Amino acid sequence: LASTEVDLSAIQPGQAIKTTFRSQPLFVRQLTDKEIAEADKVDPSTLRDPQTLAERTVDGKKQWLITMGVCTHLGCVPLGAGEGENRGEFGGYFCPCHGSSYDTAARIRKGPAPKNLEVPKYSFTSDTAILVG
Ligand code: FES
Repeated sequence: LASTEVDLSAIQPGQAIKTTFRSQPLFVRQLTDKEIAEADKVDPSTLRDPQTLAERTVDGKKQWLITMGVCTHLGCVPLGAGEGENRGEFGGYFCPCHGSSYDTAARIRKGPAPKNLEVPKYSFTSDTAILVG
């Protein structure tokens, strides 16, 4: 299956873009320091799908949050990347289909979705580019 290269150079802190990977939406987001701090202050043991931001990002590149843009409930595309700045009450992404709210590490915090947004396999090919897949 094909890999997808994503250029990160135009994505500002606080901005998320929506692109595609293997015909599915992919969210690529540069977190602000505040968003990183918000994710880090949560005790993962209190979460439905316990993971830290560090476990969901690459070492030394915690500001880059790469996830599928597919709600883990029934597969709608959450808002908060590109068009639609409704990021929900936890500041990450919000799925309007049945009201799932994801936090700034794209972890499920409220609503029916069972899992965090999936982090695909990817690696950095330079400081400003990733290869997904
Ligand atoms: Fe996202 Fe149901 S598909 S909340």
